[in-house]
Amino acid sequence: MLPFLVLCLWSLVLLTAEQVLDSTARKTISLHGNSGHLFREEGVWNYSTMLLREDLGLLILGAREAVFALDLSNITHKKAMVKWQVTQDMQDKCSHKGKDLEIECQNYIRVLHKMADGRMYVCGTNAFSPSCDYMSYTDGRLTLENIHEDGKGKCPFDPFQRYASALVDGVLYSATSINFLGSEPVVMRSSTESIRTDFKTSWLNEPNFVGMEHVAEGQQSPEGDDDKIYLFFSETAVEYDSYSKVEVSRVARVCKNDMGGQRTLQRKWTSFVKTRLDCPVPDTSLPFLIQDVFRFCSGNWTSCVFYAVFTPQAHTSQYSAVCAYEIADIRQVFSMGKFKTPVPVETSFVKWVMYSGEVPFPRPGACINNEARDKGFSRTLDLPDRTLQFIRDRPLMDQAVQPISDVALLVRRGPAFTRIVVASATALDGSSHQVMFIGTASGSVLKVVNYDGDTVIIEEVQLFKLSEPVKILRLSNATSQLYAGSEVAAAQMPLSSCGHYSSCLDCVLARDPYCGWNLTANHCTAISSIDPDGHSDVIQSLRDGDATRCPSVESVKAVNITFHPGSTIKLLCEPGSNLARMQWHVDQRPVISSDTFQILRDGLLIINASTEASGLYTCSSVESSNSRDYVSQNAVYELRLGASQSGETSLLLPQVQKQQHTMVVLQVMVVLLSIMLVALVMWNIYKGHFGFFPQCFSQGQGAQGAQEPLQVSCENTSREGNTSNNNHNRRAEFHSAQGKDSKIQQNTDQIL
Ligand SMILES: *[C@@H]1O[C@H](CO)[C@@H](O)[C@H](O)[C@H]1NC(C)=O
Ligand SMILES: *[C@@H]1O[C@H](CO)[C@@H](O)[C@H](O)[C@H]1NC(C)=O
Ligand SMILES: *[C@@H]1O[C@H](CO)[C@@H](O)[C@H](O)[C@H]1NC(C)=O
Ligand SMILES: *[C@@H]1O[C@H](CO)[C@@H](O)[C@H](O)[C@H]1NC(C)=O
Ligand SMILES: *[C@@H]1O[C@H](CO)[C@@H](O)[C@H](O)[C@H]1NC(C)=O
Ligand SMILES: *[C@@H]1O[C@H](CO)[C@@H](O)[C@H](O)[C@H]1NC(C)=O
Ligand SMILES: *[C@@H]1O[C@H](CO)[C@@H](O)[C@H](O)[C@H]1NC(C)=O
Repeated sequence: MLPFLVLCLWSLVLLTAEQVLDSTARKTISLHGNSGHLFREEGVWNYSTMLLREDLGLLILGAREAVFALDLSNITHKKAMVKWQVTQDMQDKCSHKGKDLEIECQNYIRVLHKMADGRMYVCGTNAFSPSCDYMSYTDGRLTLENIHEDGKGKCPFDPFQRYASALVDGVLYSATSINFLGSEPVVMRSSTESIRTDFKTSWLNEPNFVGMEHVAEGQQSPEGDDDKIYLFFSETAVEYDSYSKVEVSRVARVCKNDMGGQRTLQRKWTSFVKTRLDCPVPDTSLPFLIQDVFRFCSGNWTSCVFYAVFTPQAHTSQYSAVCAYEIADIRQVFSMGKFKTPVPVETSFVKWVMYSGEVPFPRPGACINNEARDKGFSRTLDLPDRTLQFIRDRPLMDQAVQPISDVALLVRRGPAFTRIVVASATALDGSSHQVMFIGTASGSVLKVVNYDGDTVIIEEVQLFKLSEPVKILRLSNATSQLYAGSEVAAAQMPLSSCGHYSSCLDCVLARDPYCGWNLTANHCTAISSIDPDGHSDVIQSLRDGDATRCPSVESVKAVNITFHPGSTIKLLCEPGSNLARMQWHVDQRPVISSDTFQILRDGLLIINASTEASGLYTCSSVESSNSRDYVSQNAVYELRLGASQSGETSLLLPQVQKQQHTMVVLQVMVVLLSIMLVALVMWNIYKGHFGFFPQCFSQGQGAQGAQEPLQVSCENTSREGNTSNNNHNRRAEFHSAQGKDSKIQQNTDQIL
């Protein structure tokens, strides 16, 4: 009866709180709590480039002046390392050009790709003089070949500048700055006949490159289409009528077999087209800017979806967002959409509007396909000037690409999103779900799933310190692990660790597609087999979060506590979920917050307990799911009055005596310490440190002032018999406040 009443009350509270809770991670856990591993090497930083070598069982980690080969299954285990340091000469040159010797004039590894022959292609900033090399891993050693290739246009000069690259069929595609000042952006293919972007603001306007992805659209294409390389970046917009600079997110693409034009666009892309990428976030005026992108494909390229994280360009907003784009929608805009064209409005002002004139054939910016071949255009070199001039002057499409369902998958207030990767999980019923892992600026990773528009943040795992943003995320299919890097460490964690869900309710309400509650084993386990009919002994309810099949659990055993009137008691009770509400009852009546009772997030504080405080206290957590409340009892305490009850006084008396005894001991200690301090002061004066006199005096005052709390500390520690820690300062007082058995916190000083 009573639980029912309480449930009704709480469901009211929960309903109003739901919108807020929406972006709260259900659980907050540490890397350690999630069976993770950490790697850091003394004296080496900036672990922001990674290459998975599942074939070798290695994680190749690019850092500052070094590349590591780490064990893919335990990255703490370093298997090999190779240094790539800049020469003194290079460093001097760099510093003479006005760059910071210690920070900028170093070699930051920025490009790492696996080549067909098993070697790796690696580039570094090399003290503002980018350079590339080949690297191999043989007999447990990493070796650089020391063939210093020019890295201009492949790797940034400036280690703080964003860049993107991809190695497709042995050819490097890169997006970065090609000059020392970082002012000349380029999107380039580094084959023998290298092809690049035109240096015009209509092509690239102060871009910030974030990602590049190859999509094999040419495979078995009925239209005889070509593979595409998609590029994601943000840049200064040309299409806004605004006095201030507005930035927008972009997706651009080039065709793999683009060879440039014959006369027009010689050795320049003939297929560079770009458009705006929208990620609508309610109540914001300026567009959000893309920070990272992940290509997720579940079958052939038509199934590919790009997941991207966005942050606001005005630092006034604290929201971040995730949007997903279907490849078909991007393709539609590029191959069917209208172009934008510049129109001079005033003498120096150009407005970009929709182009409604005639579009030449072959379509500007299109890859060579069967239709073009039939008309005699078998290479981009054959394209007519009309087509080439059109695209040279109008690389921007009129229509923007909208995300799937026209809304953001997730909008969250708090630390900015920095990176994203997406894994696929097969649930018990055989359905597959995309699990997003989102890195944040506060060193954590959010694990997020969207169930038919209902976005659930399953957990937030703290990988690094709050001040260390996640700079890179990689996903390994082979090990089912996530790898992350910050400037000062690299971390690894499993995509799921079902073991940390403690009960059936916890396991099922988590809605983690990787986990289910095995009724036979009475344990939360990884989903290993598919059961579409739901006849197995495993419970999982992803869409509904329905835990009604969970067996009722035995009630928790009561912990007996004896208290003294006037004391302060803390009854601990940790909620298993951030979405749960804590409820306290004493002798079946709800505990109401008052001067005496303070309901905390992790327990109940009873202040200046009176004789009426005794009773049976129960703590339950209530979690709402699918408009149902699930109550689980977390802790039970039996509080009994100590002193006034016969039979227990004898039990208490020695304790009090012991306390008094230890107090005397500690007081003696304090006196001794004070004498020592005074002696020290005297000695200082004697030594003629008169300049220090006022300081010493104030120190003495401080010590005297500290005597009082120290005494309190003695009384507290005495309960634990912790008399040997007598030389502790005020901190001891704080430590001792936490009871020995960590269930009870009793402030005994008031008893005495
Ligand atoms: C490299 O790491 C250090 C230490 O965290 C950081 O201060 C510095 O900004 C990083 N450098 C780059 C280029 O990211
Ligand atoms: C991971 O590797 C480190 C270093 O080799 C080792 O100390 C640690 O025990 C390993 N951990 C596991 C779980 O294997
Ligand atoms: C891709 O897969 C879908 C369904 O899985 C199929 O209908 C389509 O024909 C395939 N396309 C190509 C180009 O193979
Ligand atoms: C991951 O592995 C599964 C099968 O184990 C495969 O179907 C899928 O394509 C792989 N994904 C990636 C990104 O390699
Ligand atoms: C559930 O646990 C039992 C006992 O450990 C095991 O035999 C069974 O295979 C498990 N069921 C599933 C579906 O994993
Ligand atoms: C608490 O006290 C009750 C009766 O006073 C006793 O039955 C129970 O075993 C005690 N519990 C513990 C954990 O000591
Ligand atoms: C504690 O409670 C008693 C009576 O219940 C009251 O007389 C006393 O002033 C209270 N002490 C404090 C510190 O609030």
